Amino acid sequence: MEIIIQSTPEDAAKVAALFIKQLIERKPNAVLGLATGSTPLGLYTELARMHREDGLDFSGVTTFNLDEYIGISSEHPASYHRFMQESFFSHVNVPTKNIHIPDGNTSNIPRFCERYEEQIRQAGGIDVQVLGIGHDGHIGFNEPTSSLASRTRIKTLTEETIVANQRFFTLGESVPHHVITMGVGTIMESQNCLMLAFGAGKAQAVASMAEGPITAMCPASILQMHRKTLLITDLPASSLLTKSAYYQHVYAHKPNWQRF
Ligand code: PGA
Repeated sequence: MEIIIQSTPEDAAKVAALFIKQLIERKPNAVLGLATGSTPLGLYTELARMHREDGLDFSGVTTFNLDEYIGISSEHPASYHRFMQESFFSHVNVPTKNIHIPDGNTSNIPRFCERYEEQIRQAGGIDVQVLGIGHDGHIGFNEPTSSLASRTRIKTLTEETIVANQRFFTLGESVPHHVITMGVGTIMESQNCLMLAFGAGKAQAVASMAEGPITAMCPASILQMHRKTLLITDLPASSLLTKSAYYQHVYAHKPNWQRF
C-alpha cells in the first residue's frame, strides 16, 4: 500500500484528481468506481474543475458506484443517485448511459446484484475504485464481519453507520437500515484503489486498515492484500500511523518516473 500524507484535504484531493486525470488521458474509456459521503467531495470538485478549465474529457468514461440505500427514491435528497448527480455528474460529461449506481428500489435484489457484477465484468473491470473509510473500517457499506470475499449484495447497516449518516437526513427521518453494496471481493478486483481519509475521527480506522491485522472486523484492512492501493490522508487522519515519517520519506524521494 502506498501511503501519501498531505497537509490538508484540499491538497489530498488534488493528488487523487491528478491520478484519475492521468488515467483518463492514458485510457479515455477508463472505468471509474465511485464513492459517496463527505470524503470524495473535494476530489469531485477538482475533477469538475479539470473538466471545465483543462478540458478533461469524460465522454468515454464508464462509472460504477459502490452502494445505495434500499427503499428511498432516487430523487430523495439523501439518495446516492441524487448525491452523485449534484456533486459530480452534473459538472462533467460522463454519458448518462455509462453511469451505474445500485438501484435501491429493485424488485429483485439478488438478480439486480448479479447483473451489476456482470455489467462491471462486461465493462472490462474497474480501473480505479475511489473509497472512503467508515469509522468502523467499512468500505462501501461492507460493515465489520463482512466476508472479505463478498460480492455485490444486500447489507444491514450497523448502528454506528446509521448514526454517522443521520446528518444527511432531515430531523425525524430515519436512515434506511438496508443497502446494496459492492462486496469486498468486488472492490478487490479493481486495478487500483484510491482510498481517501480526512480528519482525526478517521485516524483509528486508517491505522487499523494500514498497519493493523487483516481482519473482517476492519474490512478495509484487506486492502493490504490489494496489488495497488493508494491511501491519501490529511495530517490528522494519519496521526495514529506508527510509520508516518517513513511514508513521508518514501513520497518525498519517489523516483521521477514514478511520480504522477
Ligand atoms: P464519509 O463516509 O466520507 O462521509 O466520512 C465514509 C464512509 O462511511 O465510507
